[in-house]
Amino acid sequence: MKKIVILTGAGISAESGLGTFRDEGGLWAQHRIEDVATPEGFARNPDLVHDFYNARRAQARTAKPNEAHVALAKLEREFQGELILVTQNVDSLHAAAGSQHVMHMHGFLDGALCASCDARWPAPLAMNKTMKCPTCAAQTTRPDIVWFGEMPYQMDEIYHHLSEADLFAAIGTSGNVYPAAGFVQEASAFGALTVELNLEPSAVVSQFEQTIFGKASACVPEWVESLL
Ligand code: OAD
Repeated sequence: MKKIVILTGAGISAESGLGTFRDEGGLWAQHRIEDVATPEGFARNPDLVHDFYNARRAQARTAKPNEAHVALAKLEREFQGELILVTQNVDSLHAAAGSQHVMHMHGFLDGALCASCDARWPAPLAMNKTMKCPTCAAQTTRPDIVWFGEMPYQMDEIYHHLSEADLFAAIGTSGNVYPAAGFVQEASAFGALTVELNLEPSAVVSQFEQTIFGKASACVPEWVESLL
């Protein structure tokens, strides 16, 4: 086996204390997507959107990686081939666990982005609408998060890796949000073996050849050991 592509979602960080989106009592049960996760919502009420991401950033910065993040970092270090780790998560727990190369396709909480000139810089703990872009001085600072209706990052690169994957695994993701939910189909079409590791079957479970159900902190380390 030469190349493994792994997609992670909110379920891998659940046991680090970060809430998922669609589980009972999840973030999307408490907040309306159109208010806090769309460019239109940000244009309507930037204070509300900054408050939402400020709270999540504060929580994420105190969270610690769990055994599943640690196991994926070990896989990156010890696998003889190439490991491509793509995450939908906006926390930085993969890096905190020691993963060197992480593709944040939905952006990340620790980044700030200027909506006027696309400049990027490290996000302070709390952001607000009066912050000026260090490059163009516009007061259009936003979190570097991909919102609904926007194009996820690094898609060309990700599709390239999926086309070369020998193994594709999705971990802790409900399979509701595209394009990520379509990665299994893409990898499979190019001949990869596909495996889903999740607490419960995702919306696209039928497209995987193998499934492993249980908590990420238990399943992922065991699965990583089976690969090494
Ligand atoms: P979801 O909240 O939709 O799904 C989380 C998945 O993790 C569910 O299938 C759970 O069964 C599973 N899960 C929960 N606890 C787990 C555990 N301890 N171990 C393993 N699995 C567990 O989150 P995502 O699929 O990541 O996008 O959501 C995808 C995108 O939707 C997010 O990136 C975000 C959201 O809207 C944006 O904000 C752009």
